[in-house]
Amino acid sequence: MKRLLLVNGPNLNLLGTREPGVYGQKTLADIEHEVETTLKENGWEFDAFQSNHEGDLIDAIHESRHESTGIIFNPGAYTHTSIALRDAIASIDVPVIEVHISNVHKRESFRHTSLISPVTWGQIVGMGTIGYTLAAQAFIDHFREENEDGEINETT
Ligand code: DQA
Repeated sequence: MKRLLLVNGPNLNLLGTREPGVYGQKTLADIEHEVETTLKENGWEFDAFQSNHEGDLIDAIHESRHESTGIIFNPGAYTHTSIALRDAIASIDVPVIEVHISNVHKRESFRHTSLISPVTWGQIVGMGTIGYTLAAQAFIDHFREENEDGEINETT
């Protein structure tokens, strides 16, 4: 069975009330529910984790390394500062899609650099909260297996 871990970093627990003009109206629980629904419809298992603490995020990434097929990660402001989180991702073999709700490239210059991006599989930036579900779709599509006749086998 394929398994996805959704990880959200600092201040993302306040989605829904945090700067809604930038991050939208949906709560983190809403987002987790949407991602879980998409994954379960496609036969995937789902786990979610949020923390405001860098070390706890590192521990969650390490602990998932033998269980998760993929990780969707919004590191919040740690995107721009954390060599330790970058090293955690580089230390495991699980592919990571980095998601940012806002278009960080249109915002303050300190948000233009991601220390995380070079060690991720890909990024989805500026698409709003649907970006998380788009990332889940990318994993589902990538890990779907074809049989010898070119038919799609839903992976189990
Ligand atoms: C964010 C962008 C970061 O710059 C910011 O610190 C966040 C959220 C986003 O999802 O757009 O906390 O990662």
